[in-house]
Amino acid sequence: MIGTRGLLLGGLVTVLGLAVAIHVWPTAPPPATFPPPLFPPASDQPITPIPGALDLDPRLVALGRRLFHDKRLSRDDTVACASCHDLELAGGDARETAMGVDGQMGTLNSPTVFNSAFSFRQFWDGRAATLEEQAEGPVHNPIEMATDWAQVMAKLRGDAGYVAEFSALWPDGIQPAHIQRAIAEFERSLITPDSPFDRYLRGDANALAADALRGWDLFRNLGCVACHQGVNMGGNMYATLGVMGNYFAERGGALQKSDLGRFNVTGREEDRHVFKVPTLRNVARTAPYFHDGSIATLDKAVDVMARNQLGVRLAEEERWALVAFLRAQNGRLPLIAP
Ligand code: HEC
Ligand code: HEC
Repeated sequence: MIGTRGLLLGGLVTVLGLAVAIHVWPTAPPPATFPPPLFPPASDQPITPIPGALDLDPRLVALGRRLFHDKRLSRDDTVACASCHDLELAGGDARETAMGVDGQMGTLNSPTVFNSAFSFRQFWDGRAATLEEQAEGPVHNPIEMATDWAQVMAKLRGDAGYVAEFSALWPDGIQPAHIQRAIAEFERSLITPDSPFDRYLRGDANALAADALRGWDLFRNLGCVACHQGVNMGGNMYATLGVMGNYFAERGGALQKSDLGRFNVTGREEDRHVFKVPTLRNVARTAPYFHDGSIATLDKAVDVMARNQLGVRLAEEERWALVAFLRAQNGRLPLIAP
């Protein structure tokens, strides 16, 4: 009896659920609140494969793709998000540091936007909690897009296509929060599954060549994995740059404010030169390296890391193997054109 009632109740809930789903889709506006960063299910593995696809709202992804490539998001219509996060350059710009409106150069390297959905915070110093929150930064940054929402919205509201698209999604039409929401959803579509290493993690013993396998061994045994871990091989913790060495003395040149890292956010002494550990996904495609873009090659980046983070001087063969392992992090690239 109870079983039957349970079944009936279950059936009713399902029917109601379906009715709600059918009723709501596709006319309801996306939720007003920003979704939290994505975390894969807990795992006892230090690194987990990138999932094949995420459950995204295709309407937002399409709108976000347009906005991401739209130069009207900058003061003089010369710079789009894609200018510094080029999908054909693995989501970066291949420059040491970023170039914004009027050719102004920043002091930080443009990180890739690929797989940024999996990072616990955004920016080198982690000052943005979500991709939505992050998207506001470059618009206002005087050496990036150098504009403000009032200006951007005035331009976009003059575009009948955008007016129609936003109004179809949200009753209040074009708003900064909706722009941020759409761009962030598009960024969530920029994931790169199926790297050789992910195939290896999924059980394909032949996915890694011998040198990359040796590199994976070193990556764990030397301790790289203590910081570069999780689904993004990074992006889930902060660490000091130069635990075992003095990176900045080695680099030379004047110390920039941006070299202070997370100290700029918290003002705490222990956060001096602390950075979000960057992802190593597709890292062979995103030279130059480090927050200051000062390291040109992956060979050198691996050496600098081993010395400054672990106090280890790598033998030639070890560096070779680690680089082979990092090359095996190249995943399937997202669609460039819609
Ligand atoms: C002028 C070049 C430039 C433009 C334009 C630009 N960015 Fe960036 N982006 C950067 C730089 C440099 C950083 C690192 C800044 C920092 O950490 O303080 C960054 C960081 C990010 C990050 C964080 C990635 C991570 O791993 O921490 C995301 C996401 C991102 N940008 C998305 C965007 C979006 C969306 C736009 C357009 C609204 C945009 N960017 C416009 C240069 C640019
Ligand atoms: C104590 C934590 C820690 C350890 C251990 C560590 N890293 Fe890093 N790694 C970082 C941080 C933090 C950065 C970013 C530094 C910066 O740009 O200022 C980084 C950056 C990198 C970069 C450059 C990424 C980019 O996109 O610019 C590479 C490559 C790298 N690490 C590889 C390794 C390898 C290989 C090992 C082991 C030999 C290793 N790391 C060990 C914390 C660590």
